[in-house]
Amino acid sequence: MTDIAKAGRFPLGDLRVKRMGYGAMQLAGPGVFGPPKDRPQALAVLREAVASGVDHIDTSDFYGPYVVNELIREALHPYPDDLVIVTKVGAVRGPDASWNPAQTPAELTRAVHDNLRNLRVDSLDVVNLRITGAVHEPSEGSIAERFAALAELQRQGLIKHLGLSNVTSAQVSEALGIAEVACVQNLYNLVHRADDAMVNALAAKGIAYVPFFPLGGFSPLQSEALSSVAASLGATPMQVALAWLLQRAPNILLIPGTSSLAHLRENLAAAELALSGDVLSQLDAIGKQGREHE
Ligand SMILES: NC(=O)c1ccc[n+]([C@@H]2O[C@H](COP(=O)([O-])OP(=O)(O)OC[C@H]3O[C@@H](n4cnc5c(N)ncnc54)[C@H](OP(=O)(O)O)[C@@H]3O)[C@@H](O)[C@H]2O)c1
Repeated sequence: MTDIAKAGRFPLGDLRVKRMGYGAMQLAGPGVFGPPKDRPQALAVLREAVASGVDHIDTSDFYGPYVVNELIREALHPYPDDLVIVTKVGAVRGPDASWNPAQTPAELTRAVHDNLRNLRVDSLDVVNLRITGAVHEPSEGSIAERFAALAELQRQGLIKHLGLSNVTSAQVSEALGIAEVACVQNLYNLVHRADDAMVNALAAKGIAYVPFFPLGGFSPLQSEALSSVAASLGATPMQVALAWLLQRAPNILLIPGTSSLAHLRENLAAAELALSGDVLSQLDAIGKQGREHE
C-alpha cells in the first residue's frame, strides 16, 4: 500500500496534516447535485481514503447540497482523532442546481450551523470563506465584514481555524488584519498558474495553499507533454500532475477529487513519486504555455 506520509506534512493552524488529502466534491451526483451515482462506492471511497492514511478531507454543504457531508458522516463518524475536515461556506444551491451567493453574516452563520449539524461535530476544524464573484477566479473587493462574521463564530468556539477560497492577495492581507488564516484554496494546477506569486508568499508566512482543480477539475488536464513525461516515468498523467504540485512548494496540500476507488488509489500513489530536476523543467514549460494573467 502507498505510504502517503512520504509526501510530508504541513500545518493547518495547529492541525498538522499529511500533504496528500482527498476532496469529496465528486461524490455528489452529476453537476455536484443530488445523490451519488453509486452510493456504496462513494462510502467505500471515503472509508478507503482514511484507511490509506488520509487525514485531510475537503467538503462543503453546497455539494449535493448536504449530500456529501451526509456521506462523510455516514462513512466516518465517529471520526478518527487525527482526521481534519475542511468545509466551506458562502453559497447555497437552488432547486435547479444553480450556485447562489449566500455571504451575509446571517447566511454565513446559518451555513456554519448547518455544517456542524450535518457533519455531527461540536466545532468545525477549518471553515473556508468561499468568495463568489467570477466563478473560479477571484475578483477584488473588501471581504472584511464576511470574514469578521466567521471570526466571531471562531471566538464562540464553533470553528477552530479559518481559511479563504477564491481570493486575491489583497483579500488575504485584509483577512490577516482580522484573524489568523490557516489556508487559502484557489484554482491552481500544472497549467493554471495565475497564483504562482501567492503560493510563494503564503509559503513564506507558513500558510497552507490548497489548490482546487489540482487535476484540472471537470475537464481533467490533457497535454501531450504531460503524457509523454508520465510514460517515461511509468506513471499516469494525473500522478505526475499531483507530484508536480507536491514538489512545487512545501505549503501545498493536495485534495484531488474522485468518485472512483481505482482513481483514489492512483492519486494517493503520487505521494511516493519523486520528480527529477530535468522532469520538473519539462513540466514547468507546460505551465508557461498555459500561464494566465501575464
Ligand atoms: N473552493 C472551491 O471553490 C472549490 C472548487 C472546486 C473544487 N473544490 C475542492 O477541490 C477538490 C478537488 O477538485 P475537483 O474534484 O473539482 O477537481 P480535480 O481533483 O482537479 O479533478 C477531479 C476530476 O478528475 C477525475 N479524476 C480524478 N482522479 C483521476 C485519475 N486518477 N484519472 C483520471 N481522472 C481522474 C474525476 O473523475 P472521477 O470521479 O471519475 O475520478 C473528476 O472528474 C474538490 O473535491 C473540492 O473538495 C473547491
